Amino acid sequence: MSNNIVIAIDGYSSCGKSTLAKALAKKLHFIYIDSGAMYRAVTLYFLRHNVDLNNHEQIAEALKDIHLNFHSRDYQTHITLNDEEVSEEIRQMPVSDNVSSVAALREVRHEMVKQQQRMGRSKNIVMDGRDIGTTVFPDATLKIFMTADPKIRAERRYKELHEKNPDITLEEVFENIAHRDYQDTTRAESPLVRAPDAIILDNTNMTPDEQLQFALDKVDTIK
Ligand code: DC
Repeated sequence: MSNNIVIAIDGYSSCGKSTLAKALAKKLHFIYIDSGAMYRAVTLYFLRHNVDLNNHEQIAEALKDIHLNFHSRDYQTHITLNDEEVSEEIRQMPVSDNVSSVAALREVRHEMVKQQQRMGRSKNIVMDGRDIGTTVFPDATLKIFMTADPKIRAERRYKELHEKNPDITLEEVFENIAHRDYQDTTRAESPLVRAPDAIILDNTNMTPDEQLQFALDKVDTIK
């Protein structure tokens, strides 16, 4: 295999993109990059510093102060924001409720895309997100676009979140997913859309193992 293979996995919120991307990276010994974690860490910084999302100067200043780093252990995402480990905090509802608005900002997207493209240079990677196959790596070797029934997605995410936060309701999770789908697909700046050459993977009725096998079969065609 060549040493600059990019596998782009895009799709709706809570579709299991990261589960598949991690499993695939592990199997292939590729680097896994969770691009959503970057938007989440920026959101956390903006919330902590009360950055006004209508103030372009403040946004540009804040972006200069943000330094993100990934530390991969066992293919789990560990991300630091200015050297602070924030992997847990970026999954909580305050960030989830605000991340789509932050990810819609042009300045934020330009900066994240630049960093993501740098991470994929001369390496074999699996990156998941919303615009990986369209904007970040339009020439990706393989593109997968994931989708699933929104109710099933909410139930899966609810199970995950409920373990850590028993107060959370299924309704709240469903609303958050529906809201993010809407914002992600309707924003002006690189909206979530399937690249014409992306393979659709609807995993409503598929196990994680079946999804991995589906992806591995596609990888076989590019080797
Ligand atoms: O994959 P996730 O749920 O952790 O992503 C969090 C948010 O970040 C999601 O609502 C949309 C945004 N995002 C994006 O706009 N572009 C990406 N490449 C990845 C995530």
